[in-house]
Amino acid sequence: MTVAGAGGGWSSRPYETPADLRLMQALCSTCWRADWPAPLAHPGDLDWWSRDAGDGGLALSERIQLWFAGEADASDLIAWAWFNLPSDLDLMIRPDRRGPELVRSIVEWATARAASVVNDGLPVEAVQAFAPDSQPAVVAGLRELQFEPVEGRTLAHFTRRFDGWQLPEISLPAGFTLRTLASAADVEARVTCGRAAFPASRMTVEKYEAARRTTLYRPALDWLLIAPDGGVAAFALGWLDPVTLAVELEPVGVHPDFQRQGFGRAVCLAAIRAARSMGASQGLICAEGNNPAALGLYASLGYEIATWTRPYRRPLRA
Ligand SMILES: CC(C)(COP(=O)(O)OP(=O)(O)OC[C@H]1O[C@@H](n2cnc3c(N)ncnc32)[C@H](O)[C@@H]1OP(=O)(O)O)[C@@H](O)C(=O)NCCC(=O)NCCS
Repeated sequence: MTVAGAGGGWSSRPYETPADLRLMQALCSTCWRADWPAPLAHPGDLDWWSRDAGDGGLALSERIQLWFAGEADASDLIAWAWFNLPSDLDLMIRPDRRGPELVRSIVEWATARAASVVNDGLPVEAVQAFAPDSQPAVVAGLRELQFEPVEGRTLAHFTRRFDGWQLPEISLPAGFTLRTLASAADVEARVTCGRAAFPASRMTVEKYEAARRTTLYRPALDWLLIAPDGGVAAFALGWLDPVTLAVELEPVGVHPDFQRQGFGRAVCLAAIRAARSMGASQGLICAEGNNPAALGLYASLGYEIATWTRPYRRPLRA
């Protein structure tokens, strides 16, 4: 169903097919250029998130809405929004349309979404929208609608340009090797390591395989650090945007048995080196504000915090 915006300024409809993900990724690239050095998201994020399609019983068509400048599908995409249980709203708006009207339309959609779903058998109680400090118009739009900033879940966006960066040599202790993911057994070992590095992870072999089938997945950017026993000690997955030549590393992880031994740094450098050989000229890595190890690692790679994304919350019922 297409919904016309107030005053006919735009129209919106739910996600329909994977072609919509391509449109959303193209908007990411457009925003990336305008927002550099503080981009909100990378097209690879969308492929990476899409692996969770179906989690919590919500299809992408129930999570994602697209806004067009005029008639849906007959005009440019100007915004998209992605709703995740229990109450999270990610939104991207083209810079020239970042005003209160479009923020309101997105919030209305997300509020209706939240009100119509249950999480673990319980009604959803709020909408929690994420917005970067670098987009004050979006933040102002949310504040106007009585969204309040909440503590926690801040995300640092680290970026850097690669020109002039002499990548350091990677040296590993005897028995450790760096290579790209190459087999079904690797996928299993990679998922095992990922679940150890991120204890709250719901990653499965099936979901990782789904990520490998996405448009922007490149086997040459899926790096593993292999321990002497053959297990995966660390991993970094790079996503290269062919439009902006920007690479994002997402995710990065080191098995708890191997942390603080230089392996996170090594596997990130391997992925960045490979991306540069494919043309990457700039990069993004995001880290949660309460993760000193990740914040330390990305700063040690010469990336700088370009902006912070913060959560803003509004209860469904006042
Ligand atoms: C974040 C993580 C990838 C770091 O990997 P690591 O292999 O432990 O880090 P390294 O040994 O390569 O450290 C490189 C640099 O990062 C910084 N760093 C690493 N761990 C740190 C910590 N606990 N506190 C502060 N700085 C830290 C330091 O600058 C370090 O250099 P130094 O050891 O010479 O001081 C790892 O801790 C991890 O996987 N954590 C769980 C999953 C996760 O949070 N992933 C990142 C999500 S964005």
